[in-house]
Amino acid sequence: MTAALPAQDDIRIAVIGLGYVGLPLAAAFGRRYPTLGFDIDAGRIAELREHRDHTLELSADELEAADKLAFASDPAALAGCNVFIVTVPTPIDDYKRPDLRPLESASRTVGRAIGRGGVVVYESTVYPGATEEVCVPIVEAESGLKFNEDFHAGYSPERINPGDREHRLETILKVTSGSTPEAAGFVDALYASIISAGTHKASSIRVAEAAKVIENTQRDVNIALVNELSLIFHRLGIDTHEVLEAAGTKWNFLPFRPGLVGGHCIGVDPYYLTHKAQQIGYHPDVILAGRRINDAMGGHVAERVVKLMQQRGFRTSGAKVLVLGLAFKENCPDLRNTRVVDIIRELKSYNVDVDVHDPWVAPAHAEAEYGLSLVDSPGPGGYDAVILAVAHERFVALGADGVRAFAKPGAVLFDVKRALPRESVDGCL
Ligand SMILES: NC(=O)c1ccc[n+]([C@@H]2O[C@H](COP(=O)([O-])OP(=O)(O)OC[C@H]3O[C@@H](n4cnc5c(N)ncnc54)[C@H](O)[C@@H]3O)[C@@H](O)[C@H]2O)c1
Repeated sequence: MTAALPAQDDIRIAVIGLGYVGLPLAAAFGRRYPTLGFDIDAGRIAELREHRDHTLELSADELEAADKLAFASDPAALAGCNVFIVTVPTPIDDYKRPDLRPLESASRTVGRAIGRGGVVVYESTVYPGATEEVCVPIVEAESGLKFNEDFHAGYSPERINPGDREHRLETILKVTSGSTPEAAGFVDALYASIISAGTHKASSIRVAEAAKVIENTQRDVNIALVNELSLIFHRLGIDTHEVLEAAGTKWNFLPFRPGLVGGHCIGVDPYYLTHKAQQIGYHPDVILAGRRINDAMGGHVAERVVKLMQQRGFRTSGAKVLVLGLAFKENCPDLRNTRVVDIIRELKSYNVDVDVHDPWVAPAHAEAEYGLSLVDSPGPGGYDAVILAVAHERFVALGADGVRAFAKPGAVLFDVKRALPRESVDGCL
């Protein structure tokens, strides 16, 4: 007989992986249900027990408000939980193939803890089919339980946007799905109980998986198109932003802007979809072309800066360039897959001496992730070029004059994000 799903008053949740996605989710559930936040990183658990969140997604008050939330890094603490929500990373490897190891390892953890009637819900971004083809068999093998008889599965993709104070977990409509109609109903009701924006119940796990991965793929391809336009318009001597502003007066012109595409999602998730497409014999031309264009933008910025410096008579070899911003986006400390490193690498290949300054980023993270020693407070008047790579509010607040104060007279100011007035800078995308 099929095991009954957990009763509403007997829901005991475990959130596996307490990063940008898992922690806000655990806190939201932990205001309503007994919830265990589990992470293999004991340091992360120690900081959360002290109500500190280095990702800056939640304040100490928000963590305290989750009065039914406990934290553990010992898998033994998962015993007794009956709903497991997996929010571990889904990165790509050096060959840009999905690296499913965290997901597989978390599935093993769940398999050892789940009992009859349990539900495992995946939130990590994957390709269509990954939950039922890769994760569920691991849970089955570890638990000795039978899928859709003894335990059930769901998939509910995360849509949060790190550093975004407006679009929060509770205020973003959530897609849900389940491995049977009953499981789908259970998963949907569970999320509906904490998401004030409501839920959208997809018809299957594969539909929900595909929906998430195309959200980011669509964004990536759209940005690639404007990046390509900016490469064309630069050669034509036309200002891309002026073109986009003019075209944007049409009601159905999409407001994308050129820039670097970094972070854990947009530059990574499309490879999950292209991997699956290739596995079934389809070569995804458009998606991969977009990836190539976006990945080349950092190198393009560096080349433009080098050219501008040479045009002004600055020697490139040995020149000093200040890069403002290392995080993958503005006003957040997240360094994952930041493409600012492409600008830095390309500049260094011209023997340029590069200083990087980012007050949002923990220097130890920059050192550990990219071997970069951040400059704490760049001195005035010392640089041959300054690149405003990330439009952190405090950089923009300096204005062009404040940014130029770091540089020598006549130095190059390149504004990657077009955050400063066009006439005050020497180049932008
Ligand atoms: N960050 C975002 O904006 C965002 C938005 C939507 C979806 N996603 C997706 O959500 C997933 C998680 O992303 P994130 O940004 O929260 O990642 P993250 O790197 O911030 O956090 C992941 C956490 O999982 C932990 N972890 C890794 N392996 C584990 C395991 N086997 N068991 C338990 N804990 C483990 C890590 O220690 C880390 O604390 C990814 O699939 C990502 O694509 C992220």
